[in-house]
Amino acid sequence: MKRVITLLAVAITLPLAAQQKPVYLDESRPIEERVEDALSRMTLEEKIGVIHAQSKFSSAGVPRLGIPELWTDDGPHGVRPEVYWDQWRQAGWTNDSCVAFPALTCLAATWNPDIALLYGQCLGEEARFRGKDVILGPGVNICRTPLCGRNFEYLGEDPYLASRMVVPYIQGVQQNGVAACVKHFALNNTEINRHTGNAVVDDRTLYEIYLPAFKAAVTEAHVWSLMGSYNLYKGQHCSHNARLLNDILKGEWGFDGVVVSDWGATHNTDEAITNGLDIEFDSWVGKPKGAPGKTYDYYYMAAPYLQRIKSGKVGTKELDDKVRRVLRLMFRTCMNTKAGFGSMCSEAHYAASRRIGEEGIVLLKNDDGLLPIDPAKTKRVLVVGENAIKMMTVGGGSSSLKVQREVLPLDGIRNRLAGLAEVTFVRGYVGDPSGEADGVTTGQNLKDDRSAAELRAEAVEAARQADCVIFVGGLNKSRGQDCEDADRIRLGLSYGQDSLIVALAEANPKLVVVNVSGSPVAMPWVDRVPAIVQTWYNGSEAGNSLAAVLMGDVNPSGKLPFTFPARIEDVGAHALGDYHAKGSRDTIDIRYNEGIFVGYRWADRQKKTKPLFPFGYGLSYTTFEYGRPTIDRKTLTADGQVTVSVSVKNTGEREGQEIVQLYVSDKKASVERPVKELKGFKKVALAPGEEKTITFTIGRDALCFFDATKHEWVAEPGRFEALIAASAADIKGKVAFDLE
Ligand code: BGC
Repeated sequence: MKRVITLLAVAITLPLAAQQKPVYLDESRPIEERVEDALSRMTLEEKIGVIHAQSKFSSAGVPRLGIPELWTDDGPHGVRPEVYWDQWRQAGWTNDSCVAFPALTCLAATWNPDIALLYGQCLGEEARFRGKDVILGPGVNICRTPLCGRNFEYLGEDPYLASRMVVPYIQGVQQNGVAACVKHFALNNTEINRHTGNAVVDDRTLYEIYLPAFKAAVTEAHVWSLMGSYNLYKGQHCSHNARLLNDILKGEWGFDGVVVSDWGATHNTDEAITNGLDIEFDSWVGKPKGAPGKTYDYYYMAAPYLQRIKSGKVGTKELDDKVRRVLRLMFRTCMNTKAGFGSMCSEAHYAASRRIGEEGIVLLKNDDGLLPIDPAKTKRVLVVGENAIKMMTVGGGSSSLKVQREVLPLDGIRNRLAGLAEVTFVRGYVGDPSGEADGVTTGQNLKDDRSAAELRAEAVEAARQADCVIFVGGLNKSRGQDCEDADRIRLGLSYGQDSLIVALAEANPKLVVVNVSGSPVAMPWVDRVPAIVQTWYNGSEAGNSLAAVLMGDVNPSGKLPFTFPARIEDVGAHALGDYHAKGSRDTIDIRYNEGIFVGYRWADRQKKTKPLFPFGYGLSYTTFEYGRPTIDRKTLTADGQVTVSVSVKNTGEREGQEIVQLYVSDKKASVERPVKELKGFKKVALAPGEEKTITFTIGRDALCFFDATKHEWVAEPGRFEALIAASAADIKGKVAFDLE
C-alpha cells in the first residue's frame, strides 16, 4: 500500500516528460483503456471543466494532464474565420481565409457519393490545418418546406438521398482526425420559432423521414459528434431530450460520440445531466453580479452541476459517461497524432470545389438547344442580375465564411469568353447590396441609386442589342432569403425579378435564366423562357463552375435534391396548414400533419397538381435512352434479395452522366404508403453511343415501413414494384415482384 502511495505521489509531482508514458498518452493502447486511465486521473473539477465551453467555440482540456483544449468551428461549407474568445465577431486574423466549397444542396444535387467523399476529405484537411477538432456540420434536416431559411445547408428532401450522401462526407472529414458533427438533431425544419417550436410528429414520420440520415451518420459513418437542435420535441429541448438522445441516439443506435448542444440550446441543468447532453456551448446565462470567475463557470453544466454533485443531490455516473465520451473524442481528434496536419487553400481544394459545383448544377430547361452557348456564334453576351456580381460566401448565418478568393458568375463568364466574345453587364435590379457578416466584409460596393424603372429600362435596351442574355438572379444569403434564424416569406423571387425576367424574354428570345438559390423557388415565367439553369451557393469557384456548364465544357449532370412546387399550397406542410409564419416567444406546437408525405411523396399523392420541377429532375446536353428493366427473380424471400437491371445508352453526341433512380412501390399495405420511395441511384458516365447496364439489389429493408405500434420496421408480404426512373415524375420502366 505504501509503495502505491509513493508511486502515485511521484506521478503527481513529476513533470509529464519525466514520467513513464501514462496509458492515456500511449497511442498504441486501445482507446477505451486510455479513456479509463485518463478518467481515473481527473478531479471532479477537471471533469466538469471538459463538459462545457470555455470560449465561443472551444471547451477546456485538462492542462495538468497535458490534455489539450477541444476546438470546434463551423461548418459545413468551409472553415469559419477565427472569432474573438467571447464574441461572434471575427477576430481579424490574416491567416484564416479558407476555400469555400459549394453549399450542401449542391452536393446533394450531384447525387454522387464519391464527390461527397472528396468534399469531406478537403474540408477535413482545411479544418485540420487550422487546428479544428470538430467541424460543425453536415446538416441533414429534411427540406419540409421550401421556405426554411437553412435548406441551403442541408441535403434535400429525401431521407435515402441524404443518407447516401452524408456517410462519405463524414468519412472524408474524419479521415483527417477531425470530427464531423452532424446537425441539427432533430426536427429543426423551420427557422421561424427555432427556439420555441415544439415539433409534434408521429413516430412513423419521425423514423421514416426525419431520422434516417442521422441514423446513417451514426451507424454507418460512425460520426464522432452530433449537435442537438434548438427546438423542442415532446415539450423538451432537443439538446437535452431524453427520447432523442438517450433512447434513440445512444440507446437504439449505440452512438459512442459526443452530443454538443447547439449554441445557446441548453436551458436546464437537471435535464442536461440526465438527458444525454455531453458538452454545452454558448449558453446565454449571465454571471451573477460580483461573482468570481468567468461566465462559462456559471453554465448549466458548470457550477450548478458541480454544486448538485457536491451536495449529494446527483451522483457522478452521468458525469463519467459524458467525460468518457469527451475523452474518446479527444483521442480521435486533438490527441490523434497519426492523422497528418491537413492542408489549406491548396489548388487541389480549389479544383475539388470547382468539380463539386460543376457536378451539382442542374439544367432545368433547354428549348431548341440554346445551351451550351457557342462562342463562335455568340459575339455579344449580355449578363444581367445582381447575383452575377454578388459574393455569396459571406452571409446566411453561421455558415458564413471568409474566403481567400471567390470567382463571381460574371467573372467566370468573362474569363471563359475572353477573346471569344464581348461580355457586357447591366444590373437589372438591386437586391441587397450589403455584404457583411460578423465583421467579415465582402469589400464590394454594390450600391446603385437608380430607380427600378431606370435599371430595368437599361437592361431591356441592352438585351435588344445582345446575341444572348444570361440573367443571374434568384435568392441571396440575406435575412428572409436563404439565411439562418428566419424563413423566407414567399416562394417567389424578390426585388421585382419575375417581371424583369419577363421583360428580358420579350426583348430577346435567347434568354438563359440562372437561378442561384439553396431552396426551391417559384418560376411564374417558366413557359416564357427557353433555358433555365439551377445553380447553388457554389463557393470559391462558383463563377468558373457556372461558366463551364453554360459554355459546355462540362455537360450538366446534377439533379434536383428537392421538389420545386408550383405553388406553396402544393407543399404538404403548407397545405395542411401547420406551418407558422409568425414568430412566437412562447412554446408553440408545430404539428407535422402531413406526416410522411414530404416532397415528392406529397406531390405523388396529390394527383391533381404537378410540381414545377420534380425531385430527381435534371437535363443534359446529351440524351439517354433506357432499356426495359429486368429482374432476376419474381419472389423475394425474407432474408434474400432481388436484382433489377436496366441498360442506359447515351444516344446523343456528347459524353455525359445520367443519374438512374430506383423507386420502390408497395402495391398493397395495411397502412397508407407513399406512391413510391427512392431506394437506390447510380450516376453513370457514358460516351456517345455507349451503353451500360446498371444493377440495383433490393433487400427486405427497402420494402419496410415503420410500424409505430410494434416499434419496428415491417415489410408486409405481397406485391411490390421496382421503378426505374430519370426523375420522380419520369418513370422509364417497372418490374414487379412479391415478398414472401
Ligand atoms: C447554429 C449552428 C452553428 C452554431 C455555431 C448556431 O446558431 O444553429 O448550426 O453550428 O450556431 O456557430
